[in-house]
Amino acid sequence: GLIKIRGDPCWRDLTCMDFHYETQPVPNPMAYYLHRSPWWFHRFETLSNHFLELVVPFFLFLGRRMCILHGLLQILFQVVLIVSGNLSFLNWLTIVPSLACFDDAALGPLFPSGPRSLKGRVLAVQQEDARGAGPPPRLGCVVRRAANLSLGVLVAWLSVPVVLNLLNAKQVMNASFGPLRIVNTYGAFGSVTKERTEVILQGTASPNASAPDAVWEDFEFQCKPGDPRRRPCLISPYHYRLDWLMWFAAFQTYEHNEWIIHLAGKLLANDPEALSLLALSPFSGRDPPRWVRGEHYRYKFSRPGGRHAAEGKWWVRKRIGPYFPALGLRDLEDYFRAREWPSPRPQ
Ligand SMILES: *[C@@H]1O[C@H](CO)[C@@H](O)[C@H](O)[C@H]1NC(C)=O
Repeated sequence: GLIKIRGDPCWRDLTCMDFHYETQPVPNPMAYYLHRSPWWFHRFETLSNHFLELVVPFFLFLGRRMCILHGLLQILFQVVLIVSGNLSFLNWLTIVPSLACFDDAALGPLFPSGPRSLKGRVLAVQQEDARGAGPPPRLGCVVRRAANLSLGVLVAWLSVPVVLNLLNAKQVMNASFGPLRIVNTYGAFGSVTKERTEVILQGTASPNASAPDAVWEDFEFQCKPGDPRRRPCLISPYHYRLDWLMWFAAFQTYEHNEWIIHLAGKLLANDPEALSLLALSPFSGRDPPRWVRGEHYRYKFSRPGGRHAAEGKWWVRKRIGPYFPALGLRDLEDYFRAREWPSPRPQ
């Protein structure tokens, strides 16, 4: 919550959700419709986000009932995020600590009662424990308590720079403070992209990449937007890492993302492992492409019920320009050698 308030004016003027659904890493079909919510609903969503991230966490300290309310609200918030975007396993992971808000009395009604039931047996053990009638603690138990305590002290100690960062006006979003990266600072959407661009990888079998009659065909990724007619996918909690990286690559240049040239080299060789990460290669079962290039496009959701939607298009795209120029295997030899990457072997 703090990194958002500090990171992007749209979190302060409550307009971030006007953009988020369309520009998030890997939108799903719900995002397509939620993007068209009325403006007041987007303001309400942004305010709710601040309430849930900046106010609700303090409910933990306000007694049992508020703690349970905190757990319920956090789980609801994460479920809404799961439904409205493919944020991999992040939201599922965030639910886990909230489960600690529910004590035995809160969870009890979920289990059948009766003396022979699991609940009955647990109650008996707890009563015995409370009377101090249990067996004396064994060595293993003492060792475990000592290990738990040491871990607690270690985490508290390693959390000092994390908390100092939280209180700092120049807060950083995702960073680690120790070489072992045991306790880190984490944040998401500290700034929200206002416009969606995509890198589209294309190949051609034409011997001359600059010939006007060269036919360029698109490679399709598993989930990220490509063909405007493909429905956005639903994959949470699964995570297509390459699709996610392509989102970052689209608002930087290929010089920041040398791996994308590495990928182009693999595509020029029809490398089966690289192709297995994609949904579709126009060159599978054919000769590999002679040339591969990256094109930069602007993507917007089509309007539900509008002209483009009637043509079966979820997206409307417009070319911005080249992302990286047409490359052949021979062009890449020096580039690969300089980075000590093995040169791709045509399959
Ligand atoms: C490739 O096509 C361009 C544009 O038509 C032309 O100028 C160039 O000479 C061609 N190159 C070769 C090697 O044929």
